[in-house]
Amino acid sequence: MCGIIGCNGVSAAVPVLTLGLERMEYRGYDSSGIAVIADGKTEITKKKGRVSELINALRFKPQATAAIGIGHTRWATHGEPSDENAHPHQSGKFTLVHNGIIENHTELKEQYLKLTKMKSDTDTEVAVHLLNRFYSDGCLKALAHTARLLEGSFALAVICEEEPEKLFCVRQSSPLVVGLGEGTYAASDTAAISEKIHTLYRMDDGEIAVLEKDKIEFYDFELNKIRKAPEKFEKSSYASDKGNFEHFMLKEIYEQPEAIRRTVDAYLNENGFNLGLKPQKPERIFIVACGSAYHAGLVGRRIFESLAKIPVSVETASEFRYSEPLVSEKTPVIIISQSGETADSLAALREAKKRGAKTLSIINVKESTIATESDFVLLTRAGPEIAVATTKAYGAQLSALYLLGIYFAESFGTADKKELEKMKKALTDLHKSVSAALNCEEQIKEIAHRLRHIDRAYFIGRGAGFAAASEGSLKLKEISYIHCEAYAAGEMKHGTISLIEKDTTVIAMNTQTALAHKLQSNIDEVRSRGARVIAVTSADSKISADETITVPEVHPLFAVSTQIVPVQLLSYHIARLRGCDIDKPRNLAKSVTVE
Ligand code: M6R
Repeated sequence: MCGIIGCNGVSAAVPVLTLGLERMEYRGYDSSGIAVIADGKTEITKKKGRVSELINALRFKPQATAAIGIGHTRWATHGEPSDENAHPHQSGKFTLVHNGIIENHTELKEQYLKLTKMKSDTDTEVAVHLLNRFYSDGCLKALAHTARLLEGSFALAVICEEEPEKLFCVRQSSPLVVGLGEGTYAASDTAAISEKIHTLYRMDDGEIAVLEKDKIEFYDFELNKIRKAPEKFEKSSYASDKGNFEHFMLKEIYEQPEAIRRTVDAYLNENGFNLGLKPQKPERIFIVACGSAYHAGLVGRRIFESLAKIPVSVETASEFRYSEPLVSEKTPVIIISQSGETADSLAALREAKKRGAKTLSIINVKESTIATESDFVLLTRAGPEIAVATTKAYGAQLSALYLLGIYFAESFGTADKKELEKMKKALTDLHKSVSAALNCEEQIKEIAHRLRHIDRAYFIGRGAGFAAASEGSLKLKEISYIHCEAYAAGEMKHGTISLIEKDTTVIAMNTQTALAHKLQSNIDEVRSRGARVIAVTSADSKISADETITVPEVHPLFAVSTQIVPVQLLSYHIARLRGCDIDKPRNLAKSVTVE
């Protein structure tokens, strides 16, 4: 959450910073700001609201021909979204931007800044006053002193009028990369600076970088010099346009078949798997993730248990990290994350490693911290995902889990070989069925029109259908703000069915052909109490409901991949009819880098 950017030695810093902020707006979008040093003076512009409002505000200022600057897009943690709380923050000659949370800001204020009048309600402001207070013998010393005192997570970019030719960066538990090109750059995400750099340095926790116009030096917090290996950075074309689509989310739903095809093709071809992994049958596997990635993990459990006969525990990362998990070298841990930067998932990874577990991560962003720190990485090939609500990355995560499940079963000899061959073929063709599932969009638009005013909905399913229901429920609630609940269909009658009344919307996910008759009973139970049920089902499975959305038949293990498509589309169209900000829903950010 929050995105920071910095540049030095460029011909015009303002457009570099604003373009970078636009690209990182998915990280937070309640306010944004930049600071540049021009003619020895710092100029700050910051605004509540979207980056577009910052850009508007900059129009009314003379465009600084500054070569150095920093920028920030915010997801508020301390202090409401406002111009005052927006970054950068300034004290004396220092100006900084921050991503993370300074957990001991109250204590630091009490100890060092009793007489300082704060201009904002942020935790961040303390850091900039400390820099000013400790400045006596150069910025670097003041920065190291401050960094040693801060607790929590912080990626900082700092400029100072005393040394206007240097950009200072610090990383502790919040992502930050720096790079060289025509000038030097720093950003929370390489996407912000992707076409500017040819050389990348990944900063590690506890490091400071000093960026001059054509070189970068690294130090630890004791100011010992660090030598870091440069990496050649492959320029990527940044998928920043929506093409003919009204929103990124819809575009990304339509990119889902391709995301699945590319992920499967990367690791499975006519000669078999090329995962580069030699698994030994473990006692248990832990799958740990957040949000939709956790829901993908719930599907993964079904696959691993039924094919590879390995018991699996699936946990949300925020619970796992503090649960004293019973993991060891005998229990590998799989972390699933689109961004690879989710704070809880990263902490879970570190906890698992500390306890001796081998870690495997399923990640969409190659340069991310989780990918870098995992023992083994299975990269999903969804490409950049911009909409906050994940769709194609979730689809790619499911495919990665299918790949692993079949591969484990093959390696451990736990499933019939012929059946596994059939599954491999079915997996290779899965993208075609997912593509055909998109044909339901016209039907979905009509349903969305009818449902646009509902104030609640229930999603039910059995087995993997419950995992799909959980994802469907999250999708609808996060972008349309309709209260939704997902329930294991058989559990409804243990309490929640009391909420069903005339015209309550229930969406039933029928992914388990073998359990269709059981789900049918649950559908009948809620219908007889007045619910209007929309069933999502595969062509081979008969279900009777008020309305049925039928998607192509696939191997039963992969049914979530096709059945999630109508639910993603339904969420999208309902949110659109309600006039919601689909790509940037309120209160959310794409990459949750705080606890
Ligand atoms: O980047 P990650 O996959 O680790 O993100 C995890 C969740 O924050 C994410 O899936 C979130 O739930 C999405 N907004 C759901 O659409």
